[in-house]
Amino acid sequence: MCGIVGFSGTREAAAVLIDGLRRLEYRGYDSAGIAVCDGERINVAKVKGYVKNLAEMTHDGADIRGFVGIGHTRWATHGAPNDVNAHPHLSSDGRFAVVHNGIIENYALLRQELTERGYKFLSDTDTEVVAHLLELYYAGDMKKAIMKTAARLEGSYSLGVVCLDGSGRLFAMREQSPLILGLGVGENYFASDVAALVPHTKNVIYLEDGEFAELTPEGMTVYDVTGHEVKKPVSRVAWDVEAAEKGGYEHFMLKEIMEQPACFKATVEPRIKNDRIVFEDFDLTDGELKSIDKIIITACGSAGYAGQVGRYVIEELCRVPVTVELASELRYRNPIIDEKTLLIVISQSGETADTIAALKECKSRGARVLAIVNVVGSTIAKLADHVIYTWAGPEIAVATTKGYTTQVAVLDMLAIYLADRLGRMDSVTYERLITALHDMPGKMQRAIDLNRNVKKLAKRLSHHNDIYFIGRNMDYAVCMEGALKLKEISYIFAEAYAAGELKHGTIALVEQGSLVVTLACYEPLFDKTMSNIEEVKARGAQVLAVAPEDNKKIVSKADDFLPVPRTEPIFTPLAQIIPLQLFAYYVAKERGCDIDKPKNLAKSVTVE
Ligand code: AGP
Repeated sequence: MCGIVGFSGTREAAAVLIDGLRRLEYRGYDSAGIAVCDGERINVAKVKGYVKNLAEMTHDGADIRGFVGIGHTRWATHGAPNDVNAHPHLSSDGRFAVVHNGIIENYALLRQELTERGYKFLSDTDTEVVAHLLELYYAGDMKKAIMKTAARLEGSYSLGVVCLDGSGRLFAMREQSPLILGLGVGENYFASDVAALVPHTKNVIYLEDGEFAELTPEGMTVYDVTGHEVKKPVSRVAWDVEAAEKGGYEHFMLKEIMEQPACFKATVEPRIKNDRIVFEDFDLTDGELKSIDKIIITACGSAGYAGQVGRYVIEELCRVPVTVELASELRYRNPIIDEKTLLIVISQSGETADTIAALKECKSRGARVLAIVNVVGSTIAKLADHVIYTWAGPEIAVATTKGYTTQVAVLDMLAIYLADRLGRMDSVTYERLITALHDMPGKMQRAIDLNRNVKKLAKRLSHHNDIYFIGRNMDYAVCMEGALKLKEISYIFAEAYAAGELKHGTIALVEQGSLVVTLACYEPLFDKTMSNIEEVKARGAQVLAVAPEDNKKIVSKADDFLPVPRTEPIFTPLAQIIPLQLFAYYVAKERGCDIDKPKNLAKSVTVE
């Protein structure tokens, strides 16, 4: 949930670290700090709030001198978000500074032990134990101190350590939390995400759990848990620095909404060869495919809602039973899973702790695991048997948009692919759907263009304090994502209900002036949804309908209308979510919310 960054070079480190933190800020923004070694001491600057506060406090780093350092942007787990709990944390002797992403689960016991040994704790964090352990175990050999410290830690961590030794030494360690090394020329780096590395280098090394590295300006050495050197492959990052910048948009979220047609294309087109869908990393034999008797989709948040869309499409086309399970629940259930189960794990970041745990649990019970992931080299991508990457590029806004639509795109393709391989789709339908896939970027762009005036509507409706989303079948699946978008960035209570369920309880809440967003794109149940509109209107509700652009019937009934272009029915969610994303964005803007950094949230939920 936090972002960490490290630099070792022959120029001032502070400015590099602060720039890196700005690029990692989506991971957490409760406080920010840096520690830089000037050869004589480790200088620390840290402050509550955004990285810009740190930049102001240090005059963009000019006040903190030295060529080796670490930085941190925090999403608080242990201890309130304040200056003292902000990272980096120093050992009592000032020889070590530490930044940490993750949770040290046995920190209370370690803290007690270290206190009894006379170490003084300044913060409420779990991280501070690491700084004191390093001091305890350091007897002139930093590698040994790192290994002894790591052996005492339980939980998940990526750690950055700067040590006052010579002119300053930099170390990075990983256990169940992302950490990537960047290879520069005359300088080297580490970071929680490649976003902080791409301004400097595209050559990266992905650390594995248990590994640690020493970085100097000239190079880096990676060691395994026993201290033996490991030769690591160097990977090349596929995208440019501009991809992780706002490019003239006021917010990353708006930029990412606008990028969706292009991201869809980047995800789908390379996988259609000679009018056939080809998944290079999912090439099961016919026998293996036919042995699958059920599919479980697991994920968290929006990724789970993408899975809800996928469930309707896969069941419809493949006639294989599909359930969608919250990863945070699945990991602690006793699910009925065996070798005949295909587990589809969906995650933008590839680092979500609950999703990783659910994956491991199901894999241990024999499930074959297919991951749909955006971040290359992430933990989920490594743990899965097969990976289909969404090529959405870096997603920075906490509220996912292009991450979600590319996940839905992959699930749609997968449904067509499986239906064909299982012999459950005729060639005419197959060809029609492939043609429709090629048309989707244009349809998504039209969804954007049709809703350019949603801003005015959002202004008029932004005073509502609770908003209901209703729909049936795939419309209901999209309601879930539409409601989440609104609640996470505007802080309006918003919830999705299956329209047919209203009368079983929720309609008791509907009163004069209630806003009911009604999704009515799913044609087979359109008349039923219209009846639900009548029911809520009869109780005084105001209806905002999301429906095909040429649907006159709904325009006459609803108070307001968000038009969606007509598409091949199974692809409608891809276009339909766009006006809801824009609506959420402009409502949040109208309410003065910090859209890219919503309160209490972080982009990558690497803790339970
Ligand atoms: C979506 O807008 C969220 N911020 C959140 O629900 C997110 O989708 C969820 O935490 C899963 O993340 P992942 O895709 O990186 O696993």
